[in-house]
Amino acid sequence: MAQTQALTQEDRADYARDGFLAIDQVTTPAEVEALRAIYDRLFEEPGLVPDADRFELVGDPDQAPQLPQVTNPERYAPELLATQAFASAQEIARSLLGDEAVSAGMHAIRKPAGSSAETPWHQDEAYWDPAMDHHALSIWIPLQPVDQANGCMQFIPGSHRSGITAHELVNPNAHGLRLTEEPDQEAVVVCALPAGGATVHDSKTVHYTGPNRSAEPRRALIIAFSAP
Ligand code: NI
Repeated sequence: MAQTQALTQEDRADYARDGFLAIDQVTTPAEVEALRAIYDRLFEEPGLVPDADRFELVGDPDQAPQLPQVTNPERYAPELLATQAFASAQEIARSLLGDEAVSAGMHAIRKPAGSSAETPWHQDEAYWDPAMDHHALSIWIPLQPVDQANGCMQFIPGSHRSGITAHELVNPNAHGLRLTEEPDQEAVVVCALPAGGATVHDSKTVHYTGPNRSAEPRRALIIAFSAP
């Protein structure tokens, strides 16, 4: 795994080839604790986040949340922008996209304990305006250790080089998209990480997270960056 912040030439070559990178640490254990508290407040404090920035990715609106998402959390917890995690993410993004890379907003996905909900195989650009030419990446920071048992990231290496393929809604009443054709399972790379580590992926890279079979919610903070 790559080390914090200072990406090597080899890391950049790996990222260019695979469309993703795993990094062992982007923040401190103390900050992970603080981020967890902020994160839970965003999901639990009534009225803190307006409905316009709350989404359900896979479940029906009248069910218990299956895969709740908060978009633009930095608007409601601006201290997120003053963290080591954000500074590290920005440095990583600039070393991969160039010095003109800017933050394109955060989001948070909290996968409930014991949930069977998957975040289906998708490309992030499928959610975006196809008229634009995107030069973007996302940095996904777990706030507890993650592996296949609680929904770590999984990728298809090299999938960022074949354009955007067809997607469909997972559920007509929810917001999540999935590839209409499942990728070849033999190609999958599973990225277990420590708390406060990160994966970085291109906006065209095919990725997935599995169900959270653990007894704790799986918290992940995602920071997007784009360059002109
Ligand atoms: Ni995604």
